[in-house]
Amino acid sequence: MTTIATVILAAGLGKRMQSKRVKVLHPIAGRPMIRYSIDAARKLPSDRIIVVVAHQAEAVKPILADQPVEIIHQGRPLGTGHAVLQTEPALADFRGPILILNADVPLITVETIRSMINTHRKQEADLTFLTATLSDPSGYGRVIRDSEGRVIAVVEEKDAQPHQRAVREINTGFYIVESAFLFGALRELKADNTQQEYYLTDIVTMAVRQGLKLNTAEVGCLEEIIGINNRADLVRIEKIVYRRIAERHMTEGVTLLDPDTIWIEADVVIGRDTLIYPNVRLEGASRIGEDCVIRSHTRISNCRLETGVTVNDSCVLAESVLEDGATVGPFARLRPGTMLHKGAKIGNFVETKRAELGEGSKANHLTYLGDAVIGKEVNIGAGTITCNYDGIRKHQTVIEDEVFVGSDAQFVAPVRIGRGAVIGAGSTITKDVPPDSLALSRAKQEVKKDWAKRRKKAKGKGKKETVKSGKD
Ligand code: UD1
Ligand code: CA
Repeated sequence: MTTIATVILAAGLGKRMQSKRVKVLHPIAGRPMIRYSIDAARKLPSDRIIVVVAHQAEAVKPILADQPVEIIHQGRPLGTGHAVLQTEPALADFRGPILILNADVPLITVETIRSMINTHRKQEADLTFLTATLSDPSGYGRVIRDSEGRVIAVVEEKDAQPHQRAVREINTGFYIVESAFLFGALRELKADNTQQEYYLTDIVTMAVRQGLKLNTAEVGCLEEIIGINNRADLVRIEKIVYRRIAERHMTEGVTLLDPDTIWIEADVVIGRDTLIYPNVRLEGASRIGEDCVIRSHTRISNCRLETGVTVNDSCVLAESVLEDGATVGPFARLRPGTMLHKGAKIGNFVETKRAELGEGSKANHLTYLGDAVIGKEVNIGAGTITCNYDGIRKHQTVIEDEVFVGSDAQFVAPVRIGRGAVIGAGSTITKDVPPDSLALSRAKQEVKKDWAKRRKKAKGKGKKETVKSGKD
């Protein structure tokens, strides 16, 4: 296939979305809508990909920064025809077929575009566009044919006569047009329609008038051409995208116990033989290794899980790294900067933030570890808290290898606990502890013999008198 140039139309605001955000930036399975058209274009032998932007161009540009595309500014978006015309200077030296894609129709597959291009070539057409026949064509431009079935026009719904509205064949918004015809035609466009816009679709009638070769290709799978004009369309499309992503992971060897309730965003990578329970969300650039188990009601966002990691029910993990065999939860929260080395274990009701847990170390219950560096084979007892914040600054707690921390200890950072030390339960540690020592800081226990027994007796006699404390 010889090369083509691709133009992606993304300049419209998308009024019907009722959003502050321009339509093409709305995410679909974690990826901005605009990326879907670009991804398809990149799979084609397309020499150049030009994206036409206008509304919120400053917000769109950074999203496209890492993409091999040229950006053209439409200024005031005056219609789809006006949008394509803005690419004329950039394509002045280009001779050949120009592929035009609507960025708000993200489900189109590269196979469908390819087959449209192939028929265009075979027919040696000047203009080919993709159509579909829908049971409910509302919202789309209708394809009008003469009595012999030859296309004569595309009429927008808002401009259509009742008999034209009854037509169920619609324009899907994908075109391939020879450059020799395209720009001349666009310059002739008039905005004499209900919306006072320069319609790209009017080039169809112009091609007919000029006696050029016009051709249509019909899409097989109707799902592919759903345009997103409002929130309901967006949700419908996103469901389909999640389903496609789930199917792909299952094909590649991942078990999803209930694909309808497992939401895996587009950029997530998952290794073979990983098992995912219902009601799980995997977001962003998360990478999940092989043989992992992820239980229900868990959200994992931009994390790296290596091989054989287990995340139990109801956990929230963000921007964290879990090495081979690490275990988390149930009910744990790993905040950004958490690093669990091999076989480390975070149990229930534990929160971590910028915390490193060395190989084989454990924090099994009710704990907060923030700004903490914890060595290997450390046991963190229930209820341990690193007091990392003094109200102004954050400070670090360092706990070296093989330390044993008893339950309910607090570390008032900055503080360092030497290798092999033991921290007595209930201690508030404010000073560094040397290696191999015991640190204890708790009030001495007092025992008052028979005190409770006397109180019981006093109560029994109905006496008001209180049991006095103090020495016998
Ligand atoms: C368009 C087609 C319609 C087709 C439908 C398919 C026209 C006139 N109509 O209608 O026949 O059935 O798509 O989904 O083309 N855009 C710009 N600049 C503009 C206006 C729009 O770049 O000035 C972009 C939008 O961002 C969008 C695309 O072009 O990605 C389509 O625009 P939209 O206003 O959604 O057209 P539709 O009414 O859906
Ligand atoms: Ca549209």
